[in-house]
Amino acid sequence: MTDRIVYLNGEFMPFAEAKIPVMDRGFLFADGIYEVSAVLDGKLVDNAAHLARLDRSLGEIGIRNPHSLAEWERLETDLVARNGLSEGLVYMQVTRGVYERDFAFPPADVAPTVVMFTQAKKVSANPLVETGARVVTVEDIRWKRRDIKSVALLAQVLAKQAAAQAGVAEAWMVEDGAVTEGSSSTAFIVTQEQTLVTRPLSTALLPGITRAAVLRLAAEADLRVEERLFSVAEAHAAQEAFYTSASAFVMPVVEIDGRPIGEGRPGPLTRRLRELYVEMARAS
Ligand code: PDD
Repeated sequence: MTDRIVYLNGEFMPFAEAKIPVMDRGFLFADGIYEVSAVLDGKLVDNAAHLARLDRSLGEIGIRNPHSLAEWERLETDLVARNGLSEGLVYMQVTRGVYERDFAFPPADVAPTVVMFTQAKKVSANPLVETGARVVTVEDIRWKRRDIKSVALLAQVLAKQAAAQAGVAEAWMVEDGAVTEGSSSTAFIVTQEQTLVTRPLSTALLPGITRAAVLRLAAEADLRVEERLFSVAEAHAAQEAFYTSASAFVMPVVEIDGRPIGEGRPGPLTRRLRELYVEMARAS
């Protein structure tokens, strides 16, 4: 953890020197947003889309974007190079800055806090891809603006911990009987009729960047796709299932709530979509 170079408010510095004041609104109120881009072969994956979502998240909560998209990309590329990262993630966070604790926004001249760090991670050769992931369903207890990539992640922390306690990789969150999304991923099923199903975008879930890429790839491959709500019962009865995220890419799901999905192995359609995604990521 400590041998990294991180970016904080205009400067690259050793991890140990990067300090955030107690009065940072990210710390006190979770008043900020974040973004995560994957790095493969030392290059950022689908990064323009992540930076567009970062800009949108900031706009939705009224924080001015401290950097142009080109500046963001330059900072990320610099950080990746300084850390010699060939495979993993770049994490970016912007908070409403440092000011005396008060719920309402601070004066407009208070600068946002900008933090970026890298994490080395096997995003392409993830061993879980071979066996497939198991998931459990949990109640979705989050707020109503899940389209904003807020750093207020307590509900997701509790969901992921429930998964960890069940000895599985991910939790799928459920609201009114329908799956909303994973604790840190988008949920997909493949029905017995070979139709790819994922929930349509709304304020109820994050507009996943990997989700969008997978839907594009599925359309190009002439797969049948339905963007609609699906129930837990439908997920249990699915032929295949998977989840997507910047860090998991396309992750096969082989068990939901202890019930095997399909043959209990990563399904062929899921494997194909993962291959197409990795191919796209390497080319990007
Ligand atoms: N999580 N839904 C939620 C709630 C998420 O937190 C994420 C990503 C996704 C997938 O979005 P994308 O494909 O754009 O990564 C969906 C990131 C990886 C994280 O919190 O680490």
